[in-house]
Amino acid sequence: MSEPLVQLTYASQATFTSHQQGGVETEVARILLQSRRNNPKQKLGGVLHFGNGYFFQCLEGERDTVNAAYERIAKDPRHTRVQMLGFNTLQRRRFKDWSMKYVALDSDIQALLAAHKLKAFDPYLFEPELIVKLIDLFAGAADDEGYAPANPDYNKAKPSWWARLLGKG
Ligand SMILES: Cc1cc2nc3c(=O)[nH]c(=O)nc-3n(C[C@H](O)[C@H](O)[C@H](O)COP(=O)(O)O)c2cc1C
Repeated sequence: MSEPLVQLTYASQATFTSHQQGGVETEVARILLQSRRNNPKQKLGGVLHFGNGYFFQCLEGERDTVNAAYERIAKDPRHTRVQMLGFNTLQRRRFKDWSMKYVALDSDIQALLAAHKLKAFDPYLFEPELIVKLIDLFAGAADDEGYAPANPDYNKAKPSWWARLLGKG
């Protein structure tokens, strides 16, 4: 019998100091590169958000795979205070690709946070209801190839090195 499909969500705090290249956070780009190389082989999917120095990640896949990935990721020195926010079984995947979607902070997320009386993205303060809504939002959002909410030039010129990094160039 195959393992049940599960979804695990956690929050963590980045240990690295911000370093952007071409409007993209270098360490986050590396993490996505690793995820996109490894996850499809394990039929692992989900979404990653990095904002305000915090990570919010949702991992989806077969239970043993998700647990093993979480254990491995939790030991990564690039983040700390890893705290599980949710773990549940799924009838079907919310994130269709076996990879790792990246969603940058946008006005929809900011509006959702504001509706929950939060001024900044701090996943340790999220109530269960907000977590569910956020995952819904992330599932419907477009994948952001780069990360540059603070860079006004970002939309004008998507960094081609990022495309190359992800094997899309
Ligand atoms: C916030 C965060 C999220 C991560 N997500 C994933 C992931 O979804 N898949 C993955 O393979 N590695 C992920 N990693 C990286 C792993 O911790 C680990 O470095 C990587 O799996 C090692 O892969 P490699 O042996 O191919 O270099 C993540 C790391 C961090 C800090």
